[in-house]
Order: sequence, then structure tokens, then C-alpha cells
Amino acid sequence: MSAVPTSPDAEPLLRLEGLKVHFPIKAGIVFDRTVGHVRAVDGVDLSIPRGATYGLVGESGCGKSTLGRAILRLVEPTAGRVLFEGIDVASLDAEPLRKMRRRMQMVFQDPLGSLDPRQNVESLLTEPLRAHGLGGGSKELTAKVSNLLDAVGLPAAARRRYPHEFSGGQRQRIGIARAIALEPDLLIADEPVSALDDSVQAQVLNLLEELQQRLGLTFLVIAHDLAVVRHISDVVGVMYLGSLVEQAPADALYEQPLHPYTRALMSAVPVPDPVVEERRERILLAGDLPSPANPPSGCRFHTRCPWRQETRCDDEVPALRELAPGRLVSCHWAEEIRDGLLFPKSAEEVAATQGVTVGSTAADGFESDAAVGGVDQPIERR
Ligand SMILES: Nc1ncnc2c1ncn2[C@@H]1O[C@H](COP(=O)(O)OP(=O)(O)OP(=O)(O)O)[C@@H](O)[C@H]1O
Ligand code: SF4
Ligand SMILES: [Mg+2]
Repeated sequence: MSAVPTSPDAEPLLRLEGLKVHFPIKAGIVFDRTVGHVRAVDGVDLSIPRGATYGLVGESGCGKSTLGRAILRLVEPTAGRVLFEGIDVASLDAEPLRKMRRRMQMVFQDPLGSLDPRQNVESLLTEPLRAHGLGGGSKELTAKVSNLLDAVGLPAAARRRYPHEFSGGQRQRIGIARAIALEPDLLIADEPVSALDDSVQAQVLNLLEELQQRLGLTFLVIAHDLAVVRHISDVVGVMYLGSLVEQAPADALYEQPLHPYTRALMSAVPVPDPVVEERRERILLAGDLPSPANPPSGCRFHTRCPWRQETRCDDEVPALRELAPGRLVSCHWAEEIRDGLLFPKSAEEVAATQGVTVGSTAADGFESDAAVGGVDQPIERR
């Protein structure tokens, strides 16, 4: 987590306004007909001040990667705007877009898949520099590679080796070195540690944090696990079916999650203290994530929400509104839930009303063991 030196009026480095990415669903043998759309990202507003880390979490398929790719214009937004230093990325022609892309780089989940196995580390690290006409002569490139390897904690001898000769954590270090080679302002890290063992995850997250502080980077860190983004994020956004359902300063979100979905996710995060862990109540959600091609009406979470009410939830889309300074929540009943005036139903009861089965937890990857169905006590906080 960084100390973010911004005034409220400063233009954030990145701002998304009503961003939507809808993928057409095609059918037909002779004629390609569009029979519907997958609403992967469906109206997201967020901003990231320079030097800050925004952690974006949500379960598999909720649109996190598509959002990251739309920022880089690797997929075209259907609607809305991506503003980088106030400039609409969609308005840029090829050359200015290429220059801007240099300033936004991505770290991928699978370092092995994203690194060409036929290139050694030196070649992998100099490739982006050469592509942008940077780096100068071979002496300068050699020095640059040494600096990059040093920055990510790899030995100088690594330059002659190939991706398959490294461990998963080391490969991710190469991926990070490649991403920072062009000295970007914004780094989008899409599940940067989810392919790594637990013990290595912390090392890579520490490296990202250290680099951010040294290089003044701005981060968008995407994860399906709240625990991963907890310590490095200034602000955390929780996504469900293409939309943000909650956004808050990281400490406040972990201290008191306000949206029912965030509460369910949080209840799946293990607590290091064995006594607290023993008492931790887990919220089991009914059914699976609905299809983004046919999202539920009203509040999209209503088909699984333990706090769903007879009025408003099924037919009125809740706005993402500010409940407290910096705390945005899209739930009609957020105040009543926060104040303990409404009680959650058990997963079995929710499942019965929706005609689905109980079985999935808050999200695959958030929690694997079976969780408690009915929760009518406060959730133990970390
Ligand atoms: N190119 C595409 N064409 C059609 N549908 C797509 C495309 N890319 C993604 N989708 C769909 O959009 C939705 C969001 O996908 P996305 O990969 O952004 O989710 P995610 O949150 O990153 O999931 P994960 O945690 O599994 O990586 C999914 O339903 C996915 O199947
Ligand atoms: S609006 Fe209703 S269904 Fe949606 S999260 Fe709030 S209580 Fe649950
Ligand atoms: Mg993804």
C-alpha cells in the first residue's frame, strides 16, 4: 500500500466512465447472426490516482480481465470512456496510441504462457525496448537488462537462460521485468500470483509493492482472492457480473464489508488467529454465478443474496452510492444490513426460492470447503 500524494481535485492517472464491453453471441450456419451479447463489463466507473494501487476482485467470469484489456484497448469498449491523464484512449490514432500503450503495461497470470519459450531472458527483456526504438546500442541494452534483473531480484546469470529453466515465481519476476522495461506509469497485473504457490505469492506481491514505491508506479491489481489484494491495495473494488458492487479504502472494506456479496467473499478468507478462525462464520451462496449473457433483473445479486428483500431487489437496479466518504455500495438495503436490522436467510432458503441447489461457495477459488448455510450472527472480522 502506498501513501497517495493526491489532492481530491487532481486528475487521476486513470479514469473509467461507464465502461462497457459486450461480446456478441453468434449463431447460424450460413449467416452469422448475433443472437445476444455477453455483458462482460457493464458500466464501470472508477478512477486510480497516480501512485495508488487499486485492487479489483470478483469471482471467475465476472469481467475483471476484460476490464483490464479494455483499458489497454486490447478489446474495444462497447460504450463508455477510458481516460488516461484525462485523454480519451479511444480518440487516439495509431501512433499516439502506441506511445500511450508504452505507458500502460500488463503482467499476466501465466508467466510461462506469456513468455516466448524460444527467447532467452535477455532477448525477452530487450524485445519491448527494441519494438519502441528505445535502449540505444548493445552496451546500453546490456546495462538495462542488468538493471532490470537486479530490480526484480534475479541474478545477472539469468540473462542467458530460457523461461522453462526457472521456477514459477522466477518466471513471474521475468514477466514483471518485461512489463517495467518501458518504464510505464500504469501496471495492470491480471492475477499476478494465482498460478504460484502460497509461499511464493507473498514474495512476488512484496516485489510489486517495492517496485511501485521505487518507480512511482500506479497499479491495477486484479485477483479473484480478497486476501491477495488486501495488503497492497489503497482502494478495493468488488465486481459481480460486470459491475462494481462495492468500492472502499482497503482497510475499511476489510474492517466492515457492506455489500452482501463482499460479506460472503470476506467470510471465505481464512483468519490466521486459530481462535478467531474457529468462530468464523462462512456464508454459503446459493447457485452459481448467473450467465453474463442473461443477467438477473434488478439487483444482479438477488438470485443468490442471503439478504434479498421482497421489494426492490428483484426489479430495481441499485445505484452505486456513497454510504460514507469513499465507500460506495450498490445495495438498496445497505444501511439496514450494516445496522443489523435485516437478517440473512440460509443458503437452503435462498436456493429454494430460486429453484437452484446449494453447493457453490462465494466463488470458486475463494473458498473450497463447504460453508455454513444460515448466518444470523455478525461475521468474524480479520
Ligand atoms: N473474446 C470473448 N468473446 C466472448 N466472450 C468473452 C470473451 N472474453 C471474455 N468473454 C466472456 O466474458 C465474461 C468475462 O470474462 P473475463 O475473462 O473478463 O472474466 P474474469 O473475471 O477475468 O474471469 P477469470 O477470473 O476466470 O479470469 C465471461 O463470461 C467470458 O466467457
Ligand atoms: S439490493 Fe437486495 S439483492 Fe441486492 S445485494 Fe442488496 S439486499 Fe441483496
Ligand atoms: Mg481473468
